[in-house]
Amino acid sequence: MRTHLCGEVNEQLADQAVQLCGWVDRRRDLGGLIFISLRDHAGIVQAVVEPDSPAFKDAEALRNEYCVRISGLVRMRPESQWNESMATGKVEVLAETVELLNASAPMPLLMTDEDGEEIRLKYRYLDLRRPRMQHNLRTRAKMYRAIRDSLDSKGFTEFETPMLTKATPEGARDYLVPSRVHAGHYFALPQSPQLFKQLLMMSGMDRYYQIARCFRDEDLRADRQPEFTQLDIEMAFVEESDVQDLAETMIREVFRDTLGVELPQPFPRLSWHQALDRYGSDKPDLRIPMELATVDEHVAHVEFRVFSGPANDEGSRVAALRVPGGAGISRKQIDEYTEYVGRYGARGLAWIKVNDADAGLEGLQSPIAKFLDDKAWQGIAGATGAQSGDILFFGAGEWLTVSTFMGELLVRAGRDRGLVQEGWQPLWVNEFPMFEWDEEARRHFAMHHPFTAPLKDDPEALLANASTALSKGYDMVLNGAEIGGGSIRIHDPGMQQAVFKLLGIGEEEAQLKFGFLLDALKYGCPPHGGIAFGLDRIAALMSGEESIRDVIAFPKTTTAQCLLTSAPSKIPDEQVAELHIRNISKDS
Ligand code: AMO
Ligand code: AMP
Repeated sequence: MRTHLCGEVNEQLADQAVQLCGWVDRRRDLGGLIFISLRDHAGIVQAVVEPDSPAFKDAEALRNEYCVRISGLVRMRPESQWNESMATGKVEVLAETVELLNASAPMPLLMTDEDGEEIRLKYRYLDLRRPRMQHNLRTRAKMYRAIRDSLDSKGFTEFETPMLTKATPEGARDYLVPSRVHAGHYFALPQSPQLFKQLLMMSGMDRYYQIARCFRDEDLRADRQPEFTQLDIEMAFVEESDVQDLAETMIREVFRDTLGVELPQPFPRLSWHQALDRYGSDKPDLRIPMELATVDEHVAHVEFRVFSGPANDEGSRVAALRVPGGAGISRKQIDEYTEYVGRYGARGLAWIKVNDADAGLEGLQSPIAKFLDDKAWQGIAGATGAQSGDILFFGAGEWLTVSTFMGELLVRAGRDRGLVQEGWQPLWVNEFPMFEWDEEARRHFAMHHPFTAPLKDDPEALLANASTALSKGYDMVLNGAEIGGGSIRIHDPGMQQAVFKLLGIGEEEAQLKFGFLLDALKYGCPPHGGIAFGLDRIAALMSGEESIRDVIAFPKTTTAQCLLTSAPSKIPDEQVAELHIRNISKDS
């Protein structure tokens, strides 16, 4: 139907006849001439219809988003009319025929960034016509190709694992599928292919990858979808550094092939503890040039209990954040920050404005300066590098809570003050704790998942010191987003039993849920490990999008609905009955 794509028409085609297909992006009538911006996936080109052209009547009838075919002659525009910002901006197509392929009803959206998300998702097929969305989805496809090229060249094989399966614990709720054939029995959609990829290592498949859909019923945010895509990788006969080296090389190749970007080499590494200590986050954004300072030793002696209490307590800290040039921050802004950190568990946010760094305590403006002495201030000034014109914020209390709320403040203040630098800042975070203690549930939870090996290969030691045990888990972080996570796995049945025990999974339950894994571990399971990347998140970073919804063709809302198809939806009673289930909610 066409000889060229709209976006390809340029000066090399001058004086040539072309046939183009696409949509009317815009139609303008100018002094008898009609200008049509014709758009396809490759770009936009301008067609001109002259008043004496037989196509004029057809062109007059066109409206936005009509689907048309235009044939005509490419000609150079006069130099004064060159549009350098368009690939096709030096030429136009003098239309000979304008053929209507299909008219369009009036558009329900503006087809610009002004459109609200609800309407965009309802009419997703129209929203996807926009160049921004075309670009995002095609960048994503380019990334997939780069991934496959990279892994195929390194001896990996792509394997598929089941979608209808048994629950894999990754910390979210399962999406369940009732069985019609087996009354009262359910499949779970996979939260990840974790157990199957481990089984493939036991099968001698050696190097596995899969671009796998995963399903998690959890609270959704901009960086989470109920159904999302992982690049899932597993390797046999490896240690942490083998997996990390492979993953790092691959990601570097993928960024080079997809965006032409060179990522730093090697990626820096921080332990989980260091990351929280210095950045207040297990996914620090290293583009923000600020760090937390621990000032415990400088305030341990002061009378101010808010500081001296935590400073003298083993599991607590007093952390300071220096915001360069922040002394001009208003009281209102400080109150807002105080409210903000409150959401992350802060009971207050102390601050000091450094008006004159050379004037000692006299040079400070702060509600807490009166509680400090020279020694304390000199220590704080040294630890934070405070200079005239800065503001210092302080968090005091339990180590993880303080680290976390100060880390949130670091990112917020960094963004507010325009301190986020351009570029790509990846890093590894490793040596995670094996377990998190949940005070309410009064039990341990696995920080990664229950198949992650502890750093020390000793089940007795693990059982004795569960709360301080570290794991062979690692995350890859890029510009403040956790883009991948993995670990070396447990390959010893005794160790796996010990971890289940610590997680409160009794022998019977372990057998019921993971009997197949425990059995498989008995038959010469090789040491193995791997990683999974969140491809939606990487695609969003690559496209400069805030939300992963903008790099997914048909995403769900934050309340886990598809507005386009109105899913989830009700089903007829007979179909419900066939599945041996009954609706109990009132409005069903
Ligand atoms: P994990 O649970 O850390 O590890 O997931 C791996 C990566 O997947 C991405 N991700 C998500 N992306 C979008 N929406 C979600 N709801 C979502 N949840 C996770 C993140 C994350 O880093 N089986 C292990 C991997 C392993 O151990 O090899 C796993 O699933 O970018
Ligand atoms: P207060 O003695 O409660 O009036 O607090 C004095 C100052 O310390 C105020 O600026 C509070 O915001 C701040 N503050 C109180 N608790 C904390 C805390 N846990 N961490 C940091 N600052 C705090």
